[in-house]
Amino acid sequence: MSPFAPGARPTVGELWAALAERMRAPEMYSEGPRHEAAELLAHALGLLPRDLEARIESRITEAEHSALLGILSRRLSPEPTAYIVGGVEIGPLRFKVDRRGFIPRLDLTVLVEAGLAGVPLEAKGRALDLASGIGAAGICVAHARPGLLLDLADVSPEAIELARENAELHVPGRASCWSGDLFGALPADRRGSYIVITANPPWVPDGTVLPDEVIDHEPNVSFFGGPDGLDLVRRIISELGSWLAPGGIYAQECDPSQVTKVLELLRGVGLVNGRAHADAEGVLRVVSAVRA
Ligand SMILES: C[S@@+](CC[C@H](N)C(=O)[O-])C[C@H]1O[C@@H](n2cnc3c(N)ncnc32)[C@H](O)[C@@H]1O
Repeated sequence: MSPFAPGARPTVGELWAALAERMRAPEMYSEGPRHEAAELLAHALGLLPRDLEARIESRITEAEHSALLGILSRRLSPEPTAYIVGGVEIGPLRFKVDRRGFIPRLDLTVLVEAGLAGVPLEAKGRALDLASGIGAAGICVAHARPGLLLDLADVSPEAIELARENAELHVPGRASCWSGDLFGALPADRRGSYIVITANPPWVPDGTVLPDEVIDHEPNVSFFGGPDGLDLVRRIISELGSWLAPGGIYAQECDPSQVTKVLELLRGVGLVNGRAHADAEGVLRVVSAVRA
Protein backbone atom coordinates (compact mmCIF):
# COMPACT_ATOMS: atom_id res chain seq x y z
CA MET A 1 0.00 0.00 0.00
CA SER A 2 3.01 2.31 0.22
CA PRO A 3 3.11 4.92 -2.55
CA PHE A 4 6.90 5.12 -2.13
CA ALA A 5 9.69 3.27 -3.92
CA PRO A 6 10.91 0.17 -2.02
CA GLY A 7 13.75 1.07 0.31
CA ALA A 8 13.17 4.84 0.11
CA ARG A 9 11.56 5.80 3.37
CA PRO A 10 9.29 8.84 2.97
CA THR A 11 9.63 12.13 4.80
CA VAL A 12 7.04 13.14 7.37
CA GLY A 13 5.76 15.78 4.92
CA GLU A 14 5.34 13.24 2.10
CA LEU A 15 3.52 10.79 4.34
CA TRP A 16 1.28 13.50 5.73
CA ALA A 17 0.20 14.51 2.20
CA ALA A 18 -0.38 10.87 1.16
CA LEU A 19 -2.40 10.13 4.29
CA ALA A 20 -4.51 13.27 3.85
CA GLU A 21 -5.30 12.11 0.31
CA ARG A 22 -6.40 8.70 1.68
CA MET A 23 -8.61 10.42 4.27
CA ARG A 24 -10.34 12.37 1.47
CA ALA A 25 -11.96 9.16 0.14
CA PRO A 26 -15.74 9.35 0.72
CA GLU A 27 -15.83 6.08 2.68
CA MET A 28 -13.50 7.57 5.33
CA TYR A 29 -16.18 10.15 6.37
CA SER A 30 -13.35 12.46 7.42
CA GLU A 31 -14.40 15.84 8.80
CA GLY A 32 -10.95 17.27 8.12
CA PRO A 33 -8.67 15.01 6.05
CA ARG A 34 -5.42 16.93 6.66
CA HIS A 35 -6.15 17.35 10.35
CA GLU A 36 -7.05 13.67 10.72
CA ALA A 37 -3.92 12.61 8.81
CA ALA A 38 -1.87 14.74 11.22
CA GLU A 39 -3.48 13.01 14.22
CA LEU A 40 -2.69 9.51 12.89
CA LEU A 41 0.83 10.33 11.77
CA ALA A 42 1.73 12.19 14.95
CA HIS A 43 0.47 9.24 17.02
CA ALA A 44 2.72 6.86 15.07
CA LEU A 45 5.69 9.16 15.72
CA GLY A 46 4.86 9.59 19.42
CA LEU A 47 4.10 13.30 18.90
CA LEU A 48 1.14 15.66 18.99
CA PRO A 49 -0.13 17.09 15.67
CA ARG A 50 1.24 20.52 16.54
CA ASP A 51 4.78 19.04 16.64
CA LEU A 52 4.70 17.58 13.12
CA GLU A 53 5.83 20.73 11.28
CA ALA A 54 9.17 20.60 13.09
CA ARG A 55 9.82 17.13 11.60
CA ILE A 56 8.39 17.75 8.16
CA GLU A 57 11.67 17.21 6.25
CA SER A 58 12.92 14.22 8.23
CA ARG A 59 12.58 10.63 6.97
CA ILE A 60 10.57 8.33 9.19
CA THR A 61 12.27 5.34 10.77
CA GLU A 62 11.44 1.70 10.09
CA ALA A 63 9.78 1.43 13.52
CA GLU A 64 7.66 4.55 12.92
CA HIS A 65 6.60 3.20 9.54
CA SER A 66 5.42 -0.11 10.97
CA ALA A 67 3.63 1.72 13.82
CA LEU A 68 1.84 3.81 11.21
CA LEU A 69 0.79 0.73 9.24
CA GLY A 70 -0.75 -0.76 12.39
CA ILE A 71 -2.60 2.47 13.13
CA LEU A 72 -3.84 2.74 9.55
CA SER A 73 -5.21 -0.77 9.53
CA ARG A 74 -7.23 0.08 12.66
CA ARG A 75 -8.53 3.27 11.00
CA LEU A 76 -9.52 1.30 7.89
CA SER A 77 -11.26 -1.37 10.01
CA PRO A 78 -13.00 1.29 10.49
CA GLU A 79 -12.17 2.56 13.99
CA PRO A 80 -12.52 6.32 14.68
CA THR A 81 -9.24 8.25 14.76
CA ALA A 82 -10.01 9.91 18.09
CA TYR A 83 -10.27 6.52 19.83
CA ILE A 84 -7.06 5.29 18.20
CA VAL A 85 -5.06 8.32 19.34
CA GLY A 86 -6.99 8.89 22.59
CA GLY A 87 -7.60 12.58 21.96
CA VAL A 88 -9.44 15.23 19.99
CA GLU A 89 -8.79 18.94 19.47
CA ILE A 90 -11.70 21.34 19.75
CA GLY A 91 -10.76 24.99 19.33
CA PRO A 92 -7.62 25.66 21.39
CA LEU A 93 -7.99 22.62 23.67
CA ARG A 94 -7.04 18.95 23.42
CA PHE A 95 -9.46 16.57 25.15
CA LYS A 96 -9.00 13.01 26.34
CA VAL A 97 -11.46 10.66 24.68
CA ASP A 98 -12.05 6.93 24.67
CA ARG A 99 -14.95 4.53 24.25
CA ARG A 100 -16.60 5.87 27.40
CA GLY A 101 -17.75 8.96 25.49
CA PHE A 102 -19.06 10.31 22.19
CA ILE A 103 -16.31 11.94 20.11
CA PRO A 104 -16.87 15.71 19.89
CA ARG A 105 -16.98 16.79 16.24
CA LEU A 106 -14.75 19.59 14.96
CA ASP A 107 -17.72 21.89 14.26
CA LEU A 108 -18.59 21.89 17.98
CA THR A 109 -16.84 25.28 17.92
CA VAL A 110 -20.01 26.72 16.30
CA LEU A 111 -21.97 25.75 19.43
CA VAL A 112 -19.25 27.15 21.71
CA GLU A 113 -19.16 30.48 19.84
CA ALA A 114 -22.96 30.74 19.87
CA GLY A 115 -22.98 30.29 23.66
CA LEU A 116 -20.08 32.69 24.22
CA ALA A 117 -21.82 35.37 22.13
CA GLY A 118 -24.21 35.89 25.04
CA VAL A 119 -21.55 36.09 27.78
CA PRO A 120 -19.25 39.11 28.30
CA LEU A 121 -15.55 38.36 28.83
CA GLU A 122 -15.64 39.43 32.47
CA ALA A 123 -18.95 37.64 33.28
CA LYS A 124 -19.30 35.86 36.62
CA GLY A 125 -21.90 33.13 37.16
CA ARG A 126 -22.80 29.59 36.20
CA ALA A 127 -22.62 27.74 32.89
CA LEU A 128 -24.19 24.36 32.10
CA ASP A 129 -23.36 21.89 29.35
CA LEU A 130 -26.30 19.50 29.19
CA ALA A 131 -25.84 16.04 27.57
CA SER A 132 -22.20 17.07 27.79
CA GLY A 133 -20.53 13.80 26.83
CA ILE A 134 -16.83 14.27 27.59
CA GLY A 135 -17.51 17.93 28.38
CA ALA A 136 -15.86 19.61 25.40
CA ALA A 137 -18.39 22.38 24.69
CA GLY A 138 -18.85 23.45 28.31
CA ILE A 139 -15.13 23.29 29.04
CA CYS A 140 -14.37 25.47 25.98
CA VAL A 141 -16.96 28.01 27.21
CA ALA A 142 -15.54 28.05 30.76
CA HIS A 143 -11.96 28.20 29.43
CA ALA A 144 -12.83 31.32 27.42
CA ARG A 145 -14.70 32.97 30.35
CA PRO A 146 -12.56 32.60 33.50
CA GLY A 147 -15.30 33.97 35.80
CA LEU A 148 -17.68 31.07 35.10
CA LEU A 149 -18.36 28.02 37.25
CA LEU A 150 -19.30 25.05 35.09
CA ASP A 151 -21.76 22.18 35.50
CA LEU A 152 -21.40 19.21 33.17
CA ALA A 153 -24.31 16.75 33.07
CA ASP A 154 -24.87 13.57 31.10
CA VAL A 155 -26.93 10.40 31.50
CA SER A 156 -23.81 8.26 31.02
CA PRO A 157 -21.69 7.83 34.19
CA GLU A 158 -18.74 6.71 32.00
CA ALA A 159 -18.88 9.84 29.85
CA ILE A 160 -19.10 11.95 33.01
CA GLU A 161 -15.95 10.30 34.39
CA LEU A 162 -14.13 11.44 31.25
CA ALA A 163 -15.72 14.89 31.50
CA ARG A 164 -14.33 15.17 35.04
CA GLU A 165 -10.84 14.25 33.83
CA ASN A 166 -11.04 16.82 31.02
CA ALA A 167 -12.37 19.53 33.32
CA GLU A 168 -9.46 18.94 35.73
CA LEU A 169 -7.06 19.37 32.81
CA HIS A 170 -8.49 22.58 31.38
CA VAL A 171 -10.60 24.39 34.01
CA PRO A 172 -9.28 22.95 37.30
CA GLY A 173 -11.41 23.63 40.36
CA ARG A 174 -14.22 25.29 38.38
CA ALA A 175 -16.35 22.34 37.21
CA SER A 176 -18.89 20.03 38.84
CA CYS A 177 -19.94 16.84 37.05
CA TRP A 178 -23.34 15.21 37.36
CA SER A 179 -24.78 12.00 35.98
CA GLY A 180 -28.52 11.58 35.34
CA ASP A 181 -31.43 12.25 33.03
CA LEU A 182 -31.26 15.80 31.55
CA PHE A 183 -31.95 18.51 34.20
CA GLY A 184 -32.82 15.75 36.71
CA ALA A 185 -29.08 15.26 37.22
CA LEU A 186 -28.66 18.75 38.73
CA PRO A 187 -29.11 20.06 42.29
CA ALA A 188 -32.41 21.94 42.63
CA ASP A 189 -30.65 25.09 43.87
CA ARG A 190 -29.16 25.60 40.38
CA ARG A 191 -32.62 26.55 39.07
CA GLY A 192 -32.68 30.02 37.53
CA SER A 193 -28.89 30.40 37.84
CA TYR A 194 -27.37 29.62 34.44
CA ILE A 195 -26.19 32.54 32.34
CA VAL A 196 -25.33 30.13 29.55
CA ILE A 197 -26.53 26.63 28.71
CA THR A 198 -25.00 24.68 25.82
CA ALA A 199 -26.41 21.37 24.58
CA ASN A 200 -25.68 18.90 21.84
CA PRO A 201 -28.17 16.18 22.81
CA PRO A 202 -29.12 13.16 20.68
CA TRP A 203 -31.09 14.55 17.71
CA VAL A 204 -30.81 11.90 14.99
CA PRO A 205 -34.24 10.54 13.89
CA ASP A 206 -34.77 6.88 14.86
CA GLY A 207 -33.96 4.50 12.02
CA THR A 208 -31.32 6.75 10.40
CA VAL A 209 -28.42 4.68 9.06
CA LEU A 210 -25.10 5.91 10.49
CA PRO A 211 -21.60 4.99 9.23
CA ASP A 212 -20.08 1.80 10.71
CA GLU A 213 -17.24 3.72 12.35
CA VAL A 214 -19.87 5.69 14.29
CA ILE A 215 -22.54 3.14 15.16
CA ASP A 216 -20.13 0.27 15.89
CA HIS A 217 -17.82 2.25 18.17
CA GLU A 218 -19.42 5.27 19.87
CA PRO A 219 -21.90 4.88 22.77
CA ASN A 220 -25.35 4.15 21.34
CA VAL A 221 -27.08 6.45 23.82
CA SER A 222 -25.51 9.38 21.92
CA PHE A 223 -27.51 9.42 18.74
CA PHE A 224 -31.21 8.79 18.47
CA GLY A 225 -33.94 11.17 19.58
CA GLY A 226 -37.24 9.55 18.59
CA PRO A 227 -39.23 9.59 15.33
CA ASP A 228 -38.23 13.13 14.28
CA GLY A 229 -35.07 13.24 16.44
CA LEU A 230 -36.47 15.93 18.73
CA ASP A 231 -37.83 13.98 21.73
CA LEU A 232 -34.99 15.05 24.07
CA VAL A 233 -34.84 18.53 22.55
CA ARG A 234 -38.52 19.08 23.37
CA ARG A 235 -37.95 17.91 26.95
CA ILE A 236 -34.96 20.22 27.37
CA ILE A 237 -36.72 23.24 25.89
CA SER A 238 -39.84 22.73 28.04
CA GLU A 239 -37.67 23.20 31.17
CA LEU A 240 -35.32 25.95 29.98
CA GLY A 241 -37.33 28.80 31.47
CA SER A 242 -36.80 27.50 35.00
CA TRP A 243 -33.03 26.83 34.72
CA LEU A 244 -31.78 29.86 32.76
CA ALA A 245 -31.11 33.08 34.66
CA PRO A 246 -32.98 36.14 33.34
CA GLY A 247 -31.00 37.25 30.26
CA GLY A 248 -29.28 33.83 30.08
CA ILE A 249 -28.56 32.29 26.68
CA TYR A 250 -29.34 28.76 25.43
CA ALA A 251 -27.33 27.40 22.48
CA GLN A 252 -28.01 24.01 20.94
CA GLU A 253 -26.77 21.95 18.03
CA CYS A 254 -29.24 20.19 15.75
CA ASP A 255 -29.52 18.93 12.19
CA PRO A 256 -29.84 21.75 9.62
CA SER A 257 -33.29 20.35 8.71
CA GLN A 258 -34.43 20.86 12.34
CA VAL A 259 -33.36 24.50 12.76
CA THR A 260 -36.74 26.09 11.95
CA LYS A 261 -38.61 23.67 14.22
CA VAL A 262 -36.23 24.16 17.15
CA LEU A 263 -36.45 27.96 16.84
CA GLU A 264 -40.25 27.62 16.90
CA LEU A 265 -40.07 25.46 20.05
CA LEU A 266 -37.85 28.10 21.72
CA ARG A 267 -40.30 30.88 20.81
CA GLY A 268 -43.11 28.69 22.15
CA VAL A 269 -41.63 28.72 25.68
CA GLY A 270 -41.13 32.51 25.60
CA LEU A 271 -37.42 32.69 24.75
CA VAL A 272 -36.44 35.68 22.59
CA ASN A 273 -33.74 36.70 20.08
CA GLY A 274 -33.84 33.27 18.39
CA ARG A 275 -30.93 32.90 15.93
CA ALA A 276 -29.39 30.24 13.73
CA HIS A 277 -25.58 29.95 13.47
CA ALA A 278 -23.66 28.65 10.45
CA ASP A 279 -20.53 26.51 10.30
CA ALA A 280 -17.51 27.35 8.10
CA GLU A 281 -19.37 26.00 5.03
CA GLY A 282 -22.37 28.24 5.71
CA VAL A 283 -24.56 25.36 6.95
CA LEU A 284 -26.90 26.31 9.80
CA ARG A 285 -26.42 23.76 12.59
CA VAL A 286 -26.77 25.64 15.87
CA VAL A 287 -29.64 27.70 17.29
CA SER A 288 -29.63 30.08 20.22
CA ALA A 289 -32.18 32.10 22.15
CA VAL A 290 -32.33 34.15 25.33
CA ARG A 291 -34.54 34.16 28.43
CA ALA A 292 -36.18 37.60 28.53
C1 LIG B 1 -24.45 13.58 20.42
S1 LIG B 1 -23.74 13.20 21.98
C2 LIG B 1 -22.99 14.79 22.30
C3 LIG B 1 -22.06 14.84 23.45
C4 LIG B 1 -21.40 16.21 23.63
N1 LIG B 1 -22.42 17.22 23.87
C5 LIG B 1 -20.57 16.56 22.40
O1 LIG B 1 -21.03 17.30 21.55
O2 LIG B 1 -19.44 16.07 22.32
C6 LIG B 1 -25.18 13.20 23.00
C7 LIG B 1 -24.94 12.98 24.48
O3 LIG B 1 -26.21 12.98 25.12
C8 LIG B 1 -26.16 12.09 26.21
N2 LIG B 1 -27.55 11.73 26.59
C9 LIG B 1 -28.40 10.88 25.97
N3 LIG B 1 -29.57 10.84 26.61
C10 LIG B 1 -29.47 11.68 27.68
C11 LIG B 1 -30.34 12.04 28.74
N4 LIG B 1 -31.59 11.54 28.84
N5 LIG B 1 -29.91 12.90 29.68
C12 LIG B 1 -28.63 13.42 29.61
N6 LIG B 1 -27.76 13.10 28.62
C13 LIG B 1 -28.17 12.25 27.67
C14 LIG B 1 -25.31 10.94 25.69
O4 LIG B 1 -24.78 10.17 26.75
C15 LIG B 1 -24.26 11.69 24.88
O5 LIG B 1 -23.12 11.97 25.66
